[in-house]
Amino acid sequence: MSNLKKTRTRDATVGVVGLGYVGLPLVLLAADAGFRVIGLDIDPVKVARLNAGRSYIKHIPAAKIRALSRGRFQATTDFRRIRHCDVILICVPTPLTEHMEPDMRYIADTGRSMAPHLRRGQLVVLESTTYPGTTEQFLRPILETSGLKAGRDFHLAFSPEREDPGNPTYHTRVIPKVVGGLDKPSLERACAFYRRLVDRVVPVSSMEVAESCKLLENIFRSVNIALVNELKILFARMGINVWEVIRGASTKPFGYMPFYPGPGLGGHCIPIDPFYLSWKAKEYDLNLRFVELAGEVNIGMPYYVVDRLQQALDDRGRTLKGAKVLLLGMAYKKNVDDIRESPALKIWHILEERGAKVSYHDPYIPVLPWTRKYAHSARSRALTPALLRGCEAVVIVTGHDAVDYRRVVRYAPLVVDSRHVVRGRWRNVVQA
Ligand SMILES: NC(=O)c1ccc[n+]([C@@H]2O[C@H](COP(=O)([O-])OP(=O)(O)OC[C@H]3O[C@@H](n4cnc5c(N)ncnc54)[C@H](O)[C@@H]3O)[C@@H](O)[C@H]2O)c1
Repeated sequence: MSNLKKTRTRDATVGVVGLGYVGLPLVLLAADAGFRVIGLDIDPVKVARLNAGRSYIKHIPAAKIRALSRGRFQATTDFRRIRHCDVILICVPTPLTEHMEPDMRYIADTGRSMAPHLRRGQLVVLESTTYPGTTEQFLRPILETSGLKAGRDFHLAFSPEREDPGNPTYHTRVIPKVVGGLDKPSLERACAFYRRLVDRVVPVSSMEVAESCKLLENIFRSVNIALVNELKILFARMGINVWEVIRGASTKPFGYMPFYPGPGLGGHCIPIDPFYLSWKAKEYDLNLRFVELAGEVNIGMPYYVVDRLQQALDDRGRTLKGAKVLLLGMAYKKNVDDIRESPALKIWHILEERGAKVSYHDPYIPVLPWTRKYAHSARSRALTPALLRGCEAVVIVTGHDAVDYRRVVRYAPLVVDSRHVVRGRWRNVVQA
């Protein structure tokens, strides 16, 4: 059977490298489509959990993992299993270094781990978000250290992941998949594969175009969020409610789409991905000013929230130094358990620097893990009237639906709301 035919007929084995927020939903999707799936990760704890039928991502129920383990799925740290895969999807992290430059070591390590086990006839697809040219110029040479040649011996493609964790409307199957291939056969095979997984596949003319699509999407968000964040600061000074302005503007049926201000950007994508392109742009003697400016505005938002809190305490004759401040919501967005790049971590850090005593409540984050940047290890406090009464201020950083905000406002002396989740007019509530 030809490789293309095999890919179409579910007889293929799919390897998913990197079993995180992107990789795990892809495992489920590929298994649902009837493929045998091998999940590869360097984290033995994740591998053991999956093989024991347990999930480590809140919005992916363990029942789904258990249904998988019943036959056609196995997780492993052993890259020799790459040899058994017909299609290999790479979904490893692409963060920034301390100097805000692309940190390519995860893709490099993955390529190096895979290369000795590649064989003829495989399709390799990179899904990690990255700068245009990565698949061709960075990943391809590493894979070719195997002695095999892309295009001749194996197919190569790029297809950006557009996962929005926890979004019940747009789950992986219904989100169209953009695909670019090294050459026509690679593109055709990758499209044939993804058509089994998702409702709509969008072929584009090259891997660079596919890589750029993802960056355009995220830069578009970053720039527009920065714009409303800046307008929020202005409107607050003018005594105008930005949320009401957005509600009004959103009634325009064409030429406008709403973006909402907040305490700063979070998550694995929007705060990071735009800098992959601005880094690459420098090679072409260009400064991507929109990207840099949006980054600057968005990075300033946690400071703005703390300044609003400090001002509100001043107005009440209190000081931030020594104040007990409860952060409400540590996840980077509502109803998820993901704290990566969360502005709450930055706000915590600034508050501590200014002498506040910080604790938190988040129903999704019972224990705050250490991160590369911040070493706050703490536990979520129960949201009792005594806790709320006992602190000088509550700062709403993430508006989880599970929290009763009326109750928060009833007991807390001061509430700084950066998400506009408190409804109605309250004397103890400050918008930030
Ligand atoms: N999380 C999202 O919402 C989202 C959305 C769209 C795109 N992306 C992109 O997808 C990619 C993956 O993101 P994620 O959120 O799934 O990351 P993640 O941190 O949740 O998962 C990555 C996984 O890769 C594993 N890993 C790291 N190095 C490895 C290696 N050498 N070999 C095998 N496994 C390795 C890690 O152990 C981890 O389990 C990134 O490029 C990200 O920008 C993420």
